[in-house]
Amino acid sequence: MSEPIRWGILATGGIAGAFARAMPFVPDSTLVAVGSRTPERAQVFGQQYGIPHRHGSYEALAADPEVDVVYVASPHAFHAEHAALCLEHGKAVLCEKAFTINAAEARRLVATARNAKRFLMEALYTRHLPLIKEVKQRVDAGQIGEVRMVTANRCSRGAFNPADRHMNLALGGGSLLDVGIYVLSFAAMFLGVRPQHVHGVGHLGETGADEHGALALGYENGAVASLTFGLRTKNVDDARILGTEGMILIDAPFWGATRATIRMADGAEEFIERPIEGNGLNYEAAEVVRCLREGEVESPDMPLDDSVALMEVMDAVRRSWGLVYPNDAG
Ligand SMILES: NC(=O)c1ccc[n+]([C@@H]2O[C@H](COP(=O)([O-])OP(=O)(O)OC[C@H]3O[C@@H](n4cnc5c(N)ncnc54)[C@H](OP(=O)(O)O)[C@@H]3O)[C@@H](O)[C@H]2O)c1
Repeated sequence: MSEPIRWGILATGGIAGAFARAMPFVPDSTLVAVGSRTPERAQVFGQQYGIPHRHGSYEALAADPEVDVVYVASPHAFHAEHAALCLEHGKAVLCEKAFTINAAEARRLVATARNAKRFLMEALYTRHLPLIKEVKQRVDAGQIGEVRMVTANRCSRGAFNPADRHMNLALGGGSLLDVGIYVLSFAAMFLGVRPQHVHGVGHLGETGADEHGALALGYENGAVASLTFGLRTKNVDDARILGTEGMILIDAPFWGATRATIRMADGAEEFIERPIEGNGLNYEAAEVVRCLREGEVESPDMPLDDSVALMEVMDAVRRSWGLVYPNDAG
């Protein structure tokens, strides 16, 4: 039996803690390192989660020879820089969503990974959940016929703080990149990453970041998607896949789904339940481990070209809103 895959976590915020708590549920893995902008935070986080290597800079984490793969959990504006830093030091990288700020950054990051022949994947954990994988298999097998419509919502109401990553443009704030990516990625699983028509409306709040929005997508085969997302307004976050022979209704929250109902045109119903072990982040990490063990530098469940294409869609939507990030300057 070989040694387990050695993980490092870059940043010590909310999701970094959730990922550390997910690690005991990831097969064939051990959490060995954390990197923070400050040694004090690395110490506190390391102590809290029993992590032996506590680095006071991201550079030191990236250079740690005892780390195989780094989970990048910094704000959106720094994903491209931090993921590239780790790849350039020979690490595999699991990079939080949104992959980058724009498609230009995404293309450069993908080129860095491919040139270095290192593993890279965007962390969209919903895709890897057992229920969502089962739904995808059933749709691909034709159980509900040809998919004609997808609807999905991903909306929450958080406290308003103009400085934190949700609403601060300098950190890549805004609901499209933060939660819109979930519904966009979900539609892409069933309808593809390249809609022919993209119409988006969004409300830009007082910081200039979008607080909520809606997307209407049209595909070459005639299928459509209707998606909502927001950070200042709660919704029922369910999702539906509507086909010519039936529909699949995924209970809220679809992004952490465990239950769905398949309802056929003749009225027959099937209920599917697939519980989540851990907090769910462990499934995306398990997919990274599988890829590393099998020598794959990309996951077929979240291909890099799809991450780039999804950034292109979000670029187009933002362009229509006049929403520009500091990173867009180059
Ligand atoms: N999969 C999910 O369900 C999920 C849920 C929430 C968030 N996320 C994603 O995870 C990422 C981080 O989100 P979060 O909620 O964990 O954010 P957060 O709580 O604000 O933490 C971000 C961390 O990034 C580091 N950082 C580096 N430069 C920073 C800067 N200039 N300002 C602030 N922090 C900076 C900090 O760690 P150090 O000070 O230690 O360096 C900070 O603790 C985002 O990409 C977000 O979209 C995913």
